[in-house]
Amino acid sequence: MILKVARLGNPVLRLKAKPVPVEQIRSPGMQAFLEHLVETMQEYDGVGIAAPQVHVSSQIAAIGVTRNPRYPRAPKIPLTLLINPQVKTVSRAVEEDWEGCLSVEGFRGLVPRWREVEVRAYNGQGVTVHFRAKGFFARVIQHEWDHLQGKVFLDRMKNLATLTHLTEYGRFWADHG
Ligand code: NI
Repeated sequence: MILKVARLGNPVLRLKAKPVPVEQIRSPGMQAFLEHLVETMQEYDGVGIAAPQVHVSSQIAAIGVTRNPRYPRAPKIPLTLLINPQVKTVSRAVEEDWEGCLSVEGFRGLVPRWREVEVRAYNGQGVTVHFRAKGFFARVIQHEWDHLQGKVFLDRMKNLATLTHLTEYGRFWADHG
């Protein structure tokens, strides 16, 4: 089922999402929600989506990249579900790159993110996972983790002058990013 995506200005995007009790993760209701969240991400060619973006203020995010027309140069990322994630940086290294968001449709902006992060979360089966991620995967993790704190990528931009309409991004920036 494709869920409705909340757009910038919807108060649900600014709430701090609630943790999910681990015993609820395997319930049929939660399993159906996880499936719908992933379907919605794929329908809109997202590389990640957080539950608040579909009006559910819970600490749940999905990430995954196969072939994606919105991010044609993005490296592949296997489908990853993160529930109650804790994210820490591995070093002080930060890099800037372009980001967009299904809740801020039609725009891209340059956002600084930690280059490598360490993540601890439950997966979609309620099993604890603990891993490190780098580069684009680390960037998407931080973007989705922000959604769970009520933040969007615009809040992280150093310079709003890089905010770019998608058509202009394609004309001026896509090969320079
Ligand atoms: Ni987003």
